[in-house]
Amino acid sequence: ALRQSVTPKAQKEKQRSWNHVQPQASYKVAVLGAAGGIGQPLSLLIKMSPLVSSLHLYDIANVKGVVADLSHCNTPAQVSDFTGASELANSLKGVDVVVIPAGIPRRPGMTRDDLFSINANIVTALIEAVADNCPDAFIHIISNPINSTVPIAAEVLKQKGVYDPKKLFGVTTLDVVRANTFVAQKKNLRLIDVDVPVIGGHAGITILPLLSKTKPSTTFTDEEVQELTVRIQNAGTEVVEAKAGAGSATLSMAYAGARFVESSLRALDGDADVYECSYVQSDLTELPFFASRVKLGRKGVEALISSDLQGLTEYEQKALEALKPQLKASIEKGIAYAQKQT
Ligand code: NAI
Repeated sequence: ALRQSVTPKAQKEKQRSWNHVQPQASYKVAVLGAAGGIGQPLSLLIKMSPLVSSLHLYDIANVKGVVADLSHCNTPAQVSDFTGASELANSLKGVDVVVIPAGIPRRPGMTRDDLFSINANIVTALIEAVADNCPDAFIHIISNPINSTVPIAAEVLKQKGVYDPKKLFGVTTLDVVRANTFVAQKKNLRLIDVDVPVIGGHAGITILPLLSKTKPSTTFTDEEVQELTVRIQNAGTEVVEAKAGAGSATLSMAYAGARFVESSLRALDGDADVYECSYVQSDLTELPFFASRVKLGRKGVEALISSDLQGLTEYEQKALEALKPQLKASIEKGIAYAQKQT
């Protein structure tokens, strides 16, 4: 009898009440490149969000199985599959947030810039479809090299006459996630408390963690700053080398990408206290695109947080000046590529 009291009926009740406490929000999210190393775990994490009612998964192949599999999870989001260019437009109709992890990843010995020609092509085609089908959506670009693919996306959107700089984001959340993890480990802090802003871009020395702005306030020796900065900048390569030819970060990227989606949905839903670092159009420096903390709101970027750039240490100031020429070149390369396409 005791055993019976916790069997199906009670379990069903529990399940039902769990489903009932979900917020009423109902946003549509599309993942382009959903069958890939990042796309699959990212889609799983988005499927778990109570803010999502509809999840559209698009890829050039292998997406049917991913959707069949995910659709068995008893969370509210309805998952649908879209395969190949002929189904791309439908995957984007009515979507609030589009996440783009489509493209090839690095192998050992490659820089993110080595991915340029292939991924620039992929991003261009996908953004053209976004412009035609859901020009008001938040666009999250994961495909590398982000330093160039975001400027390419901006150009494509401009050519289509629908560019809204407040809604185009390069996803740099993984740099923040890594910085938080490494700093917490090094300084024996509670992971959940640690927040390190990371500015600049998303490749090598353009990734600049502002350790002096770490929350909670933490002091670092010069050696610790040097060691942590270099580790955060090379963390992607750490994974590429450990995977030894099988690709780059996928699980930690999915985690970071899902966090950025969740933050965007909370902002769309009216939460007035959402801040994330992201690589966006910016006037914080002389560069047209720059990663910094941004305040997110219903219409996208509500404010760029300039205070992080004030009172930098000498080390950070020098690193900022050093990254600018490299980031500038990557931005110009992206813009030149996009302008050549027309
Ligand atoms: P993957 O090769 O495992 O998956 C890529 C997926 O994109 C595949 O399923 C492929 O079929 C799909 N795809 C290719 N062309 C497409 C197109 N035209 N339309 C739709 N889908 C297409 O690669 P992975 O590991 O998932 O990485 C994806 C991208 O994310 C790479 O460019 C990688 O460099 C980047 N990345 C970015 C990070 C960041 O912090 N922003 C971190 C890690 C990776």
